[in-house]
Amino acid sequence: MGMSALYGESDRAESVATIHAYLDAVPDGMDALLDTGDFYGMGHNELLINEALRSAPVALRERALTSVKFGALRTVEGDFTGVDGRPEAVKNFLAYSLQRLGRDHIDIYRIARLDPDVPIEETVGAIAEAVQAGHVRHIGLSEVGADTLRRAAAVGPIADLQIEYSLMSRGIEAEILPTARELGIGITAYGVLARGLISGHFGRDRLLSPGDFRGMSPRFQGENLHRNLDLVDALRKVAQEKGVSVAQTAIAWVLAQGRRHQVDIVPLVGARRRDRLEEALGALEVELSPADVAAIEAAIPAGAAAGERYPAAQMAHLDSER
Ligand SMILES: NC(=O)c1ccc[n+]([C@@H]2O[C@H](COP(=O)([O-])OP(=O)(O)OC[C@H]3O[C@@H](n4cnc5c(N)ncnc54)[C@H](OP(=O)(O)O)[C@@H]3O)[C@@H](O)[C@H]2O)c1
Repeated sequence: MGMSALYGESDRAESVATIHAYLDAVPDGMDALLDTGDFYGMGHNELLINEALRSAPVALRERALTSVKFGALRTVEGDFTGVDGRPEAVKNFLAYSLQRLGRDHIDIYRIARLDPDVPIEETVGAIAEAVQAGHVRHIGLSEVGADTLRRAAAVGPIADLQIEYSLMSRGIEAEILPTARELGIGITAYGVLARGLISGHFGRDRLLSPGDFRGMSPRFQGENLHRNLDLVDALRKVAQEKGVSVAQTAIAWVLAQGRRHQVDIVPLVGARRRDRLEEALGALEVELSPADVAAIEAAIPAGAAAGERYPAAQMAHLDSER
């Protein structure tokens, strides 16, 4: 996402090099998950992935799994005006995404937000038809709550739920995560670094460009930002004692939540430069003992984050927050 939109300027050549470095880092026999949305830069991100895959050696390209979100409606100015989950819209979005990605199928396809005017059964039913037709491999969901999970799972197998989950955003632990586990649905956790806030690289004086989402996010505002960075300072002490970075500690914590339950949580990390990617991949080497996990959770206790994870208007679109 950050390679095409929402986090200010990005460098196209560095973005492609980062995707190549990621594909290269994945061991033989394992998949490389590339997550995107057709609305990230209005198609920009899918075209970027197309370019990166076309210019990668075949053996690396074949590792790529594409996970695509659709449904967001936008204006020329880039405003979000709603979501469209009608079956005919699903087929239309899918046709354009396949063309932009330059692939004959998408591995996991999901609506970005629940369309309040279309029953989830209809939206998921349209994706299930695309699975039957061979255009999609698996059905996913994004930011939906436990009831919607159950209704969707009754239509067809749901591979995973993509949802924000990090030391700063632990809301799914009460109901959504247990429901996903009960239904055998994996979790793709996004925002594991709280959009950079708990990466250890976000300074108190950082200036954000006008289009940067974080400039509007409650957690990055004034007093909230300072309180949240105080939490990061506490996390930094734990990281230093383990000899790893703050970002690696935050990612490893999410990984550890999955490992306790047979690896059903995949952290989705928004690296957009090779140095950040290398740091993030280092989290795979970090072993957290129960004492480490306790120290991390004492540094950033559940519910300690100051501010909501989205501005109010966007919180209203989250079925997962109802
Ligand atoms: N389903 C949904 O509703 C939804 C919503 C949002 C995102 N997503 C998906 O989740 C992905 C990740 O989300 P995100 O980028 O917001 O979350 P993130 O991984 O929490 O934050 C990524 C940001 O953290 C900073 N950072 C600092 N050190 C880093 C490191 N070592 N590795 C990676 N990033 C580091 C970077 O900001 P700077 O480059 O500015 O330093 C980077 O842009 C997105 O690409 C998107 O595919 C899904």
